[in-house]
Amino acid sequence: MEEMKIYDLCEPFMEIINPLTIDQVIKLGEVLALDEDDRLIDFGCGCGKFLAVWSKAYGVTGTGVDVRDQSVRRAREILEREGLSDRIEIVKGDGKEFEFEPNSYDHAMCIGASFIWGGFRNTLQGMIDALKPGGKLIVGEPYWRKEPVPEEYLNENPGFTNEMGILRIAREEGFDLEYMIRSSEQGWDNYESNNWRGLNHWLDHNPDHPDRQQVIDWMRKNQDLYLEYGREYLGFAVYVLRPINK
Ligand SMILES: C[S@@+](CC[C@H](N)C(=O)[O-])C[C@H]1O[C@@H](n2cnc3c(N)ncnc32)[C@H](O)[C@@H]1O
Repeated sequence: MEEMKIYDLCEPFMEIINPLTIDQVIKLGEVLALDEDDRLIDFGCGCGKFLAVWSKAYGVTGTGVDVRDQSVRRAREILEREGLSDRIEIVKGDGKEFEFEPNSYDHAMCIGASFIWGGFRNTLQGMIDALKPGGKLIVGEPYWRKEPVPEEYLNENPGFTNEMGILRIAREEGFDLEYMIRSSEQGWDNYESNNWRGLNHWLDHNPDHPDRQQVIDWMRKNQDLYLEYGREYLGFAVYVLRPINK
């Protein structure tokens, strides 16, 4: 089974596919002072929950892009359920290849999906041309909470940096940090264990599947890494970045 397929199995109990809570997503929209004139693009949108919540609460319009069939289907279902299909479009495809109209979005976002471009810096560079003048980037990114990180765990996540690294890269790429919202330890536990719930649910319903052992091994490795290292060393935050003040 391909790893992308395992992600499908992880997600039945989640609509936000990261350690933030729905209240934090709403708060973020409030801080951004979103309204119905705002047009957003979300790369690696998953179930499109950020766009759906912000469209419902603040009236934004926009586009979500995701490479997985399941994410695209679920995002469209959520938008349909909320009566927002005419306000938010979901496109299936590789975010890196998506041909957006330059300078046409008020904010561009990528939450927990910077691997689309291969890291935080490349993500800022990949999204910047989508922004209207003065537009903001909204990036959810893991970071090292403390260092040195044990080599075994570092090797699993070679691209991450600490928060000073994130700040430095943001400034080097022409952005000031305007606001940040961090996930809590409880948020992380909820996110990780919902992944395991999803996998266990699939195992319950697929007793004879040929890839069963692969899924069990994947889940146990994920649990081992999280309990031994992740809880201690890895944070997650969403950073709101604005064009650098001059
Ligand atoms: C950790 S999830 C985050 C989803 C969503 N941003 C959220 O926070 O709820 C990462 C998402 O990136 C998507 N993804 C992975 N590679 C991608 C690519 N090359 N282009 C677009 N989306 C991609 C995955 O399918 C997945 O839905």
